[in-house]
Amino acid sequence: MSTTFEVATEGAGVMTASDLEQENAFEGTVGDHTVKDARMECRGVDVYYGEKRAIRNVSLDIGKREVVSMIGPSGCGKSTFLRCLNRMNDEIPGCRVTGTIKLDGVEIYDKKLEVVPLRAQVGMVFQKPNPFPKSIYENIAYGPRIHGIANNKAELEELVEQSLHKAGLWDEVKDQLDQPGTDLSGGQQQRLCIARTISVSPEVILMDEPCSALDPIATAKIEELIDELRENFSIAIVTHSMQQAARVSQRTAYFHLGDLVEVGETNQIFTSPNHKLTEDYITGRFG
Ligand SMILES: Nc1ncnc2c1ncn2[C@@H]1O[C@H](COP(=O)(O)OP(=O)(O)OP(=O)(O)O)[C@@H](O)[C@H]1O
Ligand SMILES: [Mg+2]
Repeated sequence: MSTTFEVATEGAGVMTASDLEQENAFEGTVGDHTVKDARMECRGVDVYYGEKRAIRNVSLDIGKREVVSMIGPSGCGKSTFLRCLNRMNDEIPGCRVTGTIKLDGVEIYDKKLEVVPLRAQVGMVFQKPNPFPKSIYENIAYGPRIHGIANNKAELEELVEQSLHKAGLWDEVKDQLDQPGTDLSGGQQQRLCIARTISVSPEVILMDEPCSALDPIATAKIEELIDELRENFSIAIVTHSMQQAARVSQRTAYFHLGDLVEVGETNQIFTSPNHKLTEDYITGRFG
């Protein structure tokens, strides 16, 4: 089979007769959705917006020190699934999540669990960089302060520096920490947002198309950063770029119309997919 890395999403939101056939015929995820060293374990997850089911019976592990990429046509439920992992869907009226999602063995949908600390443990980086309208320093210091992570000013300063270092931004901003975060370039703003996420010591970082608003150079920097961050964090990234998924992730999950069709080693998914739908998508035949 020849493999191209063309992204084929045009018209993907329209359901064709064969999609409907697939919806009825879908027999479960192909590939092993488990990993030995799971940080998060999702089992039988369904997500509804009102009556409409956007995610159907998805089971997937996210391992320690790995990057999992989530790919698939527009509207297939990637963002919806990603948002389940830190209960961001709680904010959407009418959205309901069933099934189980555990972080280090603890059910995150347990009614007793507080979501604010959860969202520090499972941080999120969005498509469009969204720094606070505050100084670079304050963008990073805010989280550790509200989560009580730093005990005094010296500790906080140290944490700000460390976080900016880890996000590969320190050298570029160390002399302008009091300048507005919003004055930075798009790529720098995205690294600032990553530094902000890191500053509260997360275990998992969720990224929803983090490079789609960036130029190729800024994208390359973020991709390098993702590779470095993998040593300390688990990362789940949604991307429309199959090249990006191939470059940054060790495992890839292919979603289609709310189903997790196939999951496996990234290399296997892109060179010898086992499901016809995965093959159609990666060879650009879908859509
Ligand atoms: N807030 C919402 N209210 C109602 N339906 C929603 C909402 N968000 C998403 N949906 C629906 O859920 C389905 C999955 O959407 P989602 O945004 O998760 O897809 P996606 O794979 O991230 O797409 P894209 O690649 O375009 O970002 C779509 O049918 C969408 O219309
Ligand atoms: Mg999305």
